Amino acid sequence: MRVLSGIQPSGRLHIGNFFGAMRQHLQLQKENEGFYFIADYHALTSNPDPKELSGYIIDVAADYLALGLDTERTVFWRQSDVPQIAEFAWILSCITPMGLLQRCTSYKDKVSQGVTPNHGLFAYPVLQAADILAFDSNLVPVGADQKQHIEVTRDIAIRFNNTYGEILTIPKDHILESVAVVPGIDGRKMSKSYDNTIGIFEDEKSVKKKIMRMVTDSTPVEEPKAPEKCNIFAMLRLVAEPDELKEWENRYRNGGMGYGEAKKRLVELVIEYFRPYRQKRAELETSKDYVQQVLDKGAERARAVALKTIAKVKKAVGL
Ligand code: ADP
Ligand code: TRP
Repeated sequence: MRVLSGIQPSGRLHIGNFFGAMRQHLQLQKENEGFYFIADYHALTSNPDPKELSGYIIDVAADYLALGLDTERTVFWRQSDVPQIAEFAWILSCITPMGLLQRCTSYKDKVSQGVTPNHGLFAYPVLQAADILAFDSNLVPVGADQKQHIEVTRDIAIRFNNTYGEILTIPKDHILESVAVVPGIDGRKMSKSYDNTIGIFEDEKSVKKKIMRMVTDSTPVEEPKAPEKCNIFAMLRLVAEPDELKEWENRYRNGGMGYGEAKKRLVELVIEYFRPYRQKRAELETSKDYVQQVLDKGAERARAVALKTIAKVKKAVGL
């Protein structure tokens, strides 16, 4: 099975990205043909600072490598190193109904948050479809917020095949339901764009500071609390062993426990969870040329696959 996913280099990666996406990528690479890339064309839709963008691309690559991405098995590259994807996106654009894109909630959400939309942001799902379809992907592991983009990809692919013949592989999404959305320190979805993140490789002191000021409700210590409504518990769910989690759940429901206590334990667990990878990440920080070489090699492998699909597509549409 071919598994493909992309991650935007729009900032340092956070634990929402890890539990919502990267962890699945790393697990799935073991039993599948993994195709993972850094979506730098997509990141341009938010007009990042050029120096920051080029730095984040290498940072994201180093994070993946430190966390165990296997570059022997898995193809790992930078999206813009396969520029034919942009050409393919144009061809797909020409069969994509406007209404399909107008319905996309992630575009509407960004606009309602006050982002001034550019054409790239509107056309974003078409570029994502090109990413997925160029590599004949079967499965696309992403967080729940990306589900609609995979549906759009399927719609575009079906439409293309109906018009030009059975050329494109129709992909499926793969959402890790138990994770759902990881909350940020302010209780909203953890996201680089809300400035509420905890970085995977953030300094331990800073992790502690952030968790200790995470938003909770004001239920007094002695009263029972609802774990399913609590941001701290949502994170404990990700890092605590099942037995310990059960214990916390009972303590929440019984009352007599303050949120501060749960926060302290959460700090320890989050730090322990990522500690084994810190050494490797620190080494990669001083070997950026190596990281660059890994991406260059991956791009060669990715290009070879994409070029085949795009050649078939161009022939089919009469180019
Ligand atoms: P951000 O919102 O920080 O910009 P991205 O949109 O780049 O993050 O997300 C990259 C991947 O990580 C996506 O597959 C997304 O679904 C997942 N993801 C991001 N934030 C979270 C979160 N808070 N909880 C679960 N998954 C998330
Ligand atoms: N839009 C995805 C995100 O923000 C990133 C992405 C780009 C992607 N192209 C993709 C994910 C293709 C899966 C498949 O998370």
